Amino acid sequence: MERARTRERRPPLKARLRPTGPVLFHGSMPDGASGAVAAATLVTPSSVAGGGGPWPVETREQAVAWDDGRITYVGPADGLTGAEPEWFEGCTIAPGFVDCHTHLPFAGWRADEFEARLSGVSYRDLHGEGGIYRSARMFAEASDEDVLAFCRPLVREMADHGTTTLELKTGYGLSIENELRQLSLARRLADEAPQTCSVTLLACHAVPDGMERAEWVRLACEELIPAAARDGLADAVDVYVEDIAFSVDDLARVARCASEAGLPIRCHADQLGPSGAAEAAVALGARSADHLNHVSPAGVAALGAADATVAVLLPTSTLFLRSAPPDARALLDAGAVIAIASDFNPGTSPVLSMPEVIATASSLYGLRPLEALTAATANAAAALGLERGTLSPGRPADLVILDGDAFRQVPYRPGHNPVLRTFVDGRRVGGR
Ligand code: NIG
Ligand code: FE
Repeated sequence: MERARTRERRPPLKARLRPTGPVLFHGSMPDGASGAVAAATLVTPSSVAGGGGPWPVETREQAVAWDDGRITYVGPADGLTGAEPEWFEGCTIAPGFVDCHTHLPFAGWRADEFEARLSGVSYRDLHGEGGIYRSARMFAEASDEDVLAFCRPLVREMADHGTTTLELKTGYGLSIENELRQLSLARRLADEAPQTCSVTLLACHAVPDGMERAEWVRLACEELIPAAARDGLADAVDVYVEDIAFSVDDLARVARCASEAGLPIRCHADQLGPSGAAEAAVALGARSADHLNHVSPAGVAALGAADATVAVLLPTSTLFLRSAPPDARALLDAGAVIAIASDFNPGTSPVLSMPEVIATASSLYGLRPLEALTAATANAAAALGLERGTLSPGRPADLVILDGDAFRQVPYRPGHNPVLRTFVDGRRVGGR
């Protein structure tokens, strides 16, 4: 009763998470796609959903049609007129997946660190010779073309796994020059990618070698963020709050600078230990607080009551670090808007498949299939400030055809890629 009353006083979730000035970067494909598909099942969130839903409902024998890249019809297949749909017997139509937290572009793997962790070395122990600093060295040593050549097939692989929108992030630059270079490469990748991409400046990821933390935060605020904003290179700013990285006070300072530059803030919060970052992110009006493995009860309550902050959970990173999972059910019960994403990076989550992320979220966090679908689509788009991730007339035709006759097949079969077709703005960009 109490919870229901609390929720009633709040504005609708969709209003709370209205996008603020999205900057969209489409691939090189021309506009004007039209088409239609029909399948045994259709499932889509109707909007961003938090707490108790509303969760999607599966409907049978449905079709989706689109023109000029925008959806014109969603409904019973036998009610569709003016288009002959391609039929997918025994399959499911769903919105394309939105991967709202990745660390692309990067330039090399770190499988030996994973092996070392399996022998008892911790992620914190590796931070220096290995970890973020090592990826920064690999990035610095790679040419622009090397970086793009490394990343292009990965973005393609994401499309084949149903990702229609993704975030690209910096944080392996660790100098003004290399952060701006990584931003430019992210923009180039975004322009080339068939998907919709949003670029985040992870301005504070690790303190550069030989520099005091406060000095880097000052440089990030006074030079890096203004330069990124001036050149239109970033859509958001991120800070890694952790005892091995940056503090809650640093987050507050960077949030002020980002806001002055007109950029929303996001935050890596409470990943390796509790720091109060989730509460701070909510208080600062951050668009998201991500990871949350060690979020405190106060952080859960803050995210539950948040007007603008999505709780982004990264289940494959939890799995690969073998860390304690966040209490996803407590977040939902508190009323939080939950998203799930890959955290794709060479250290803590070398996983780019959103079906795998959905499967892991269900087994590890107990997310039910249609909660996980909402978290991987509409709610994830909200974390990026984008109105994507739902199938309804007028929306971009970003959708996938899945090879099972119900969405529950996705979390049920980890390791299997269920994606038969991926469409972005109505154009086929992946599948098999
Ligand atoms: O989100 N923890 C901070 N950043 C990344 C990992 C980066 C890396 O290890 O290269 C994460 O898990
Ligand atoms: Fe991350």
